[in-house]
Amino acid sequence: MRNLTSRVRARHTPRLLALASALASALVAALGLAGCGDRRQLPQELPAAAQALREFEGSYPSESSPVGTVRAFDITAEPTEIPFTNGRKLKVWAYNGQVPGPTLRIRLGETLRVHFTNRLPQETTIHWHGVRLPNAMDGVPHATQPPVQPGGTFVYELTPKDAGTFWFHPHVRSSEQVERGLYGVLIVEDKEPPPYTKDVVWLIDDWLLDESGQIRPEFNTRHDLAHDGRWGNLITVNGKTDEVLRVRPGERIRLRLLNTSNGRVVLPDFPGLDARLIASDGMYLSEPKSAAGHELAPGNRMDVDLSFPQSLSEPIRVFDRFYARRANHLADIVVEGDPIDTPAFASPARAHVPVWASALDVPEHHAFKLNARSGGPFGLEWTIDERAFAGHSAGHHAALTLERGRFYRLRFINESARLHPIHLHGMFFRLLARNGGPVFEPFFRDTVLVHGRETIDIGVVPSDVGSWMMHCHILEHAEAGMMTMIDVTEGAAAPHAH
Ligand code: C2O
Ligand code: CU
Repeated sequence: MRNLTSRVRARHTPRLLALASALASALVAALGLAGCGDRRQLPQELPAAAQALREFEGSYPSESSPVGTVRAFDITAEPTEIPFTNGRKLKVWAYNGQVPGPTLRIRLGETLRVHFTNRLPQETTIHWHGVRLPNAMDGVPHATQPPVQPGGTFVYELTPKDAGTFWFHPHVRSSEQVERGLYGVLIVEDKEPPPYTKDVVWLIDDWLLDESGQIRPEFNTRHDLAHDGRWGNLITVNGKTDEVLRVRPGERIRLRLLNTSNGRVVLPDFPGLDARLIASDGMYLSEPKSAAGHELAPGNRMDVDLSFPQSLSEPIRVFDRFYARRANHLADIVVEGDPIDTPAFASPARAHVPVWASALDVPEHHAFKLNARSGGPFGLEWTIDERAFAGHSAGHHAALTLERGRFYRLRFINESARLHPIHLHGMFFRLLARNGGPVFEPFFRDTVLVHGRETIDIGVVPSDVGSWMMHCHILEHAEAGMMTMIDVTEGAAAPHAH
């Protein structure tokens, strides 16, 4: 398996490797060999960037390793009615007639092939959130594919590079299409899945229903735009307000939580349980840590390792405590039945995650300014660097061009008082600082919540060439302009196939 920066094979001792690498970069710097032709000095030639890149090595593979098995699924998007709370029917738009949509489970190395049919009254696409895939499969209308017209079809085919918890949703009018119920889960299992007694998905969504109990059909309202998007009046887990997970005493489960809300941030609290965070946005941590206080913004995923002591008999009521004074009940866990022995195995959270202690010394490559102004089709528009994305069909301007295989420090300055969960397609990044103060999170992300007036720094090594979106995952903010593109090109420093 080839890693992003592996110019030297990893079977040498780490010290030798570091030495060789340091010598190589010194040589490169001394001889000015860094690029072909005349180029300005890129941060990579600086010691802190070279160090960051060395630390990154081995974090995750640069290529997928297809095993040759194709897993085919049919997905149709279509308006329908589903049974909902209190015996009522809810009119939704659904994948395969169900909300949440299907959970697609494949194994790392397998190829996912989805025959997609659009039976909606609007055009649409499917975006595979968090999956490192070929750009042409990313589901961004006009940029990576033409939108799928009503009655049209499209075949998505991709071999994920990473095992983990991902999801999929439309990238056309997503503030409406996702709110109406279009989303599903993609689980890429490890080659050898750890022996949890259960592997459970909790998909958290929030709905804004009107007096008749149906989805309020006004989207991108002035109110939603001026606040943190569309926050609903009903929260569901797996489409239910009374989801109950039943386990036996002694079980050790993997619980995968996803937040598919348009705007709501949740902070799950498991009272009385030692919830261990093992993966964030699909990717394993370098070591498990307490899940307490982990914010799940729209788009985010968290996988937790939960063991149920033999002594537990009361049901566990799981709450969202993002706003401590307005806790929301999410779901319950009931421990019942004959006890079993808790399986003892090492946590799968043992990924290589760079510490990047001196990454803040790398000059920032770009600082994005996030703000709002009046104007645009909804009366208020959200901007990145004073630009509002004028809709997918308008032809785009890349805010930034990065080279594959290089380390970059990027900054986001939230000049507004609202929340912005910033999501990058096609790459993972690590949070480096909040308001200038170094932060070490032992995991990568694809979405990070930027709080009001906050400045954050991230470190990223793009792994895939293409035109990738970057946007706020509060879908109303995105629709009202808070989207842009990042172009990743094959740089001189990236490993070549020849
Ligand atoms: Cu889940 Cu472009 O987003
Ligand atoms: Cu936002």
